[in-house]
Amino acid sequence: MSETAREERSGGLTRKRFIDWLLGTSLGGFVLAVIYPVVRYWVPPVVAESAVSSVTLPFKATDVADNTGRIFKFGSKPGILIKTPSGELRAFNATCTHLSCTVQFRADIENIWCACHNGHYDLNGRNISGPPPRPLDSYNVNVRGDQIIVSVKT
Ligand code: FES
Repeated sequence: MSETAREERSGGLTRKRFIDWLLGTSLGGFVLAVIYPVVRYWVPPVVAESAVSSVTLPFKATDVADNTGRIFKFGSKPGILIKTPSGELRAFNATCTHLSCTVQFRADIENIWCACHNGHYDLNGRNISGPPPRPLDSYNVNVRGDQIIVSVKT
């Protein structure tokens, strides 16, 4: 009877089985070490959407001149506050509905304008020319004292 057969019969660990086990676990560990980062790269982590429904702007109502616009942060998104030539405050999501560039106010043409592909929105946020397929999402604007509070429309 060979030594291997004797060790197997006695339930002991042979050198060959130990080396097979060692190579198997090393190969398994190597494969996991390679595959795990690749899978993590291709499957993005789940990030919760910003749950912001209202923000107080970091500037005063008296600081906003007629026929101007200012960009502000609305959670993780940009917002744009417009003060029309007649002095009315309006706020919109500043993300262009075409390919998500940030829009800006143009006092010279009294439009909200997207520089990326020359998209135009009127002062009600309606898309009036260029590639934007739909209007900007509008927000509620409330002025309390000197504070400007912008909130999601419900
Ligand atoms: S991203 Fe605004 S017009 Fe294209």
